[in-house]
Amino acid sequence: MCDTGHMHDHHHQCDQFGFLVDSPEVRRVIEAAQHQLTLTSDYAERIEALKTAFAQLLESDGWLPDNLARPDDTSRMGDGIGQYALYRAEDGSLCLFSLVIPAGAETPVHDHLAWGLVGVYRGEQSETVYRRLDDGSDPTRAQLEVAKRQSLTPGSCYALIPPTDDIHYVKTTSPTPSISIHLLANDTACVWRHKFDPDAGTVVPFRSGYANAPCEEAASA
Ligand SMILES: [Fe+2]
Repeated sequence: MCDTGHMHDHHHQCDQFGFLVDSPEVRRVIEAAQHQLTLTSDYAERIEALKTAFAQLLESDGWLPDNLARPDDTSRMGDGIGQYALYRAEDGSLCLFSLVIPAGAETPVHDHLAWGLVGVYRGEQSETVYRRLDDGSDPTRAQLEVAKRQSLTPGSCYALIPPTDDIHYVKTTSPTPSISIHLLANDTACVWRHKFDPDAGTVVPFRSGYANAPCEEAASA
């Protein structure tokens, strides 16, 4: 771990794994999530147990640096959407990231492939969740229908629990960029997941990447 020594051995990893943002609020959420990962509870129970620490992170000011709270012109998600790693477990079991969506912009329809907790920190968003009607046997096709839409204001949070509550898109509805904070049980931006076109019924592989940390193949040797 970057923050507990072995700086020479892991020099190159120190700015891409562990606590990229180190604050008591972030540590509290990550330590609670690490503890939940050691328990034999189901996803919904883990998420329920993490809600208090996560809500406190959303209510706290001053821990998110400005450079991880602004749109990203080089975004691989498009539309200037910035995805910034705040914590990454080296074993890929957990991550925390901020997602900055400019006013009026929206993410593609996408999945996450892990359980998680998402909350709005700044601005307002609407989330549209899809239900999948086909059996997923064709990797290039997906038949989706809207399952629900919800409006989210600062402090609002929702759970991602695959396979049913895992496919969605998010749009900023405030005149300022929205910032949401995501805690997920994988290294979300570096995992190959999926982007969907619900009208065309198509699926393509998708890896969003972090704006502030490389994925494994792109890491410096
Ligand atoms: Fe998402």
